[in-house]
Amino acid sequence: MALLPDSALMPLRRDGLDPVPELGELREREPVSKLNIPFGVNVWLVSGLDEAKAVLGDAKRFSNDFANLAGKGLSVTHSPGGLGFADPPEHTRLRKLLTPEFTMRRLNRLTPGIKAIVEQRLDAMAAVDGPVDLVEEFALPIPSLVICELLGVPYEDRGDFQRLSVARFDLFGGATASLGAISESLEYLLGVVEKQRAQPGDGLLGMIIKEHGDAVSDMELAGLADGVLTGGFETTASMLALGALVLLQDPDSFKLVHDDDAAVHDFVEELLRYLTVVQVAFPRFAREDMEVGGTKISAGDVVVVSLASADRDPALGPDLERVEPTRAATSHLAFGYGVHRCVGAELARMELREAYPALVRRFPSMRLATSAEDLDFRKASIVYGVDRLPVLLD
Ligand code: HEM
Repeated sequence: MALLPDSALMPLRRDGLDPVPELGELREREPVSKLNIPFGVNVWLVSGLDEAKAVLGDAKRFSNDFANLAGKGLSVTHSPGGLGFADPPEHTRLRKLLTPEFTMRRLNRLTPGIKAIVEQRLDAMAAVDGPVDLVEEFALPIPSLVICELLGVPYEDRGDFQRLSVARFDLFGGATASLGAISESLEYLLGVVEKQRAQPGDGLLGMIIKEHGDAVSDMELAGLADGVLTGGFETTASMLALGALVLLQDPDSFKLVHDDDAAVHDFVEELLRYLTVVQVAFPRFAREDMEVGGTKISAGDVVVVSLASADRDPALGPDLERVEPTRAATSHLAFGYGVHRCVGAELARMELREAYPALVRRFPSMRLATSAEDLDFRKASIVYGVDRLPVLLD
């Protein structure tokens, strides 16, 4: 990241919660534009809604496989792997293992667990004297524990799991990605898989083992679990923290979520759109020469789609620069689009719809313990977020 010129990092920069104005100006002027990248590879930034859908919706002409970078002057000794970086038919096969575990019928089984996790965190916060860091006490533990429920990690192992997911979170935050933390995580998950293999439970891993047995290897299962952790932890944690910040800064939203159960659905959709915490999709690699939105793209070029910009494109609706808590839900791209669209979208919604109302109802006088200007937002992170969010509860 440090090697990239500032203009190339513009799609990851924000001004508080909002993308920098240059991104919106670029979308109006040139919804497919060339980024200035010094590695001898053409990189295009897609910032318009229709153009974003054209790229993300076309898995035939755009590949997610990092092997496409080989020979382009970038070393790809460590392709990230996992669902998000696989192409059909491999992607279709892996995704088919996961989707039955994310149907509403299967997810509903998690509702009591999610409620209990949220209540337990609120109790823990209430027990703290003085300011509480909402990131550490609320935003990080909730998705980590929910992923334990989902995967079927036994209660006695959850402390380790949480430590590990927070270590991964630190890794995402820092520029120096240490492969050590990733392999430690895979090793730990392999241990979880082995236990499930011996005694399959009712969680995602146990169910896949019961259903597919020897057709799926331990390494593949650990990889899927790691993908779920990577995809579902930092994203949901950022939504919980930044969404709480919106509530703290806007008394109307706070009152709405406090008073009106029926309003929570649309409020959460609006927050997902407005915050679009996954700022850009995984890079796509053009397989052939083509045009997107009238711009010529050549085989081998890299395409980066700005989901945050697409979600403010006037083609999606009017006045999208503002968060409007009662706006009717839009068909936003916060969870992506096409075959790689987030597999955990419904689970994330369940968590957010549970957590925000519970938070404001338990602590109706909650307020920031610092001025908003002093908050440390991530500077150039693919998943936007805030490192600490100190609040006073009464
Ligand atoms: C608010 C929270 C979340 C947001 C904003 C989010 C966003 C996204 C986005 C934008 C993509 C597509 C990226 C692309 O096409 O390049 C994606 C994919 C994915 N997400 Fe999520 N996600 C969230 C929560 C979750 C959860 C809770 C899980 C699982 C427990 C999860 C698992 C995944 C996986 C496995 C993929 C890869 C899917 C594929 O390539 O087929 N995500 N997510």
